[in-house]
Amino acid sequence: MNAEPQKPRLLLVDDEASLREMTRILLGREGFDVVTAASGEEALVKLEGEGTFDLILTDLRMTGLTGLDVLSAAKRRDPSTQVIMMTAYASSETAVAAMKSGAYDYIEKPFKREALVVLLLKALEKRQLMQENFILKREAASRTSFGRMVGKSPKMKGLFSLLERVAGARTTILIQGESGTGKELVARAIHENSPRADRPFIAVNCGAIPEQLLEGEFFGHMKGAFTGAHRDRVGLFMAADGGTIFLDEVGELPLQMQVKLLRVLQERKIQPVGSVVETVVDVRVVAATNKDLFEEVQTKRFREDLYYRLNVIQLEVPPLRERSEDIPLLIQHFLGRFSQEQDKRIEGVSPRAMEVLLNYSYPGNVRELENIIERAVTLELDTLISTEVLPTPMMRKEQFLRLASDLELPEEGLELEQMVENLERSLLLQAIERSQGNRTEAAKLLGISFRSIRYRLDKYGISADES
Ligand SMILES: Nc1ncnc2c1ncn2[C@@H]1O[C@H](COP(=O)(O)OP(=O)(O)OP(=O)(O)O)[C@@H](O)[C@H]1O
Ligand SMILES: [Mg+2]
Repeated sequence: MNAEPQKPRLLLVDDEASLREMTRILLGREGFDVVTAASGEEALVKLEGEGTFDLILTDLRMTGLTGLDVLSAAKRRDPSTQVIMMTAYASSETAVAAMKSGAYDYIEKPFKREALVVLLLKALEKRQLMQENFILKREAASRTSFGRMVGKSPKMKGLFSLLERVAGARTTILIQGESGTGKELVARAIHENSPRADRPFIAVNCGAIPEQLLEGEFFGHMKGAFTGAHRDRVGLFMAADGGTIFLDEVGELPLQMQVKLLRVLQERKIQPVGSVVETVVDVRVVAATNKDLFEEVQTKRFREDLYYRLNVIQLEVPPLRERSEDIPLLIQHFLGRFSQEQDKRIEGVSPRAMEVLLNYSYPGNVRELENIIERAVTLELDTLISTEVLPTPMMRKEQFLRLASDLELPEEGLELEQMVENLERSLLLQAIERSQGNRTEAAKLLGISFRSIRYRLDKYGISADES
């Protein structure tokens, strides 16, 4: 039995070791569960890795990342986390700036213990209120569509209610998600639900433009700026003025362009190639990536400063396999659309076909489901989608899963564990062979996690690549 109320979790950030230690002990005695960090950088790592914090008590001025960076990272993770800044006497101006960017309050060093505790408890109360409020709001937002997106899984509803809150602002947004999950639809929905809706929405696939043309495409160029520049050309940022620019596959931008993009985000001015003057542009940037951009930062393929600029608000579009509740709704949605387009009268899906559709893992996410339904509508002659018009590989998988029910227990019984192990070993070997030794690929084929395949390969002594 664990009837004890949970201790409030607090992240304490200060680069002064003695002060940090003293404060840690003091707050520990006051009943806080305290995690410490000796720098802004360390604080960000703890924020990423140690779950949510109720409160953050951070020094404002630190070398490297400051308290303000900690503040924005914390708010991004959980807007209800309350952040209190510790400042030296002279810096109250920056403390005010901190409060403007969402800090709960600030406290001047050196502080009295009681003053600090009272402040923390008040902040905690605010956090609890916000959390309750958030839950209420989320329940109210029981909509099953947003823009052109449909969804009723808790994850999609969460996304819709977040979208509702962030669409209207000018804030830069980073959308992360696997291929085909609907990132572009999210970007369009943001634009269409913002005051910029009647201005242009310009989608750019950063990975599709050759490196040497990028700057000209983004910012335009003047006549004669380079060979082949026969006339002035307006860039995509200028074309999106007053509206939204959607930088798809932003992780593909070469480092040199990343610097230039960062400048535009900071200064809100662009400079066409070959021009000496800069022009002010008013563009909201929404970026998307199917890479783990944070990891790209770690491996120095993506600039950290640009990452934080883009990632003011982060939206995750979950893969379809994590929200199977959405599948029937999506099917209905696509059936409606394609029957109309193809002028057919398809009313639904047969129970068996539905079972197959529900049990599939959709590596290509919503786009794959959309294609499956389009094909089915085209091929189906009846008014219900049957298994015959589903793709063969999908059916084969279904047959394989059904295999078990066709097996008959022999008269003399069998060695169950032996049999399961043999089956597992043989499938592992086939998957490794088909993926040419690539463990990530093999894990995908088997529908298991990387960790799980590593464990199983070890168990059976099968060797494979390090990937
Ligand atoms: N929630 C949804 N409701 C209805 N249609 C959806 C939904 N999500 C995605 N789609 C459809 O699935 C297809 C893929 O969506 P989209 O192009 O937005 O994905 P993406 O994440 O940008 O993919 P990629 O990374 O491959 O560019 C589109 O045709 C889109 O209309
Ligand atoms: Mg896309």
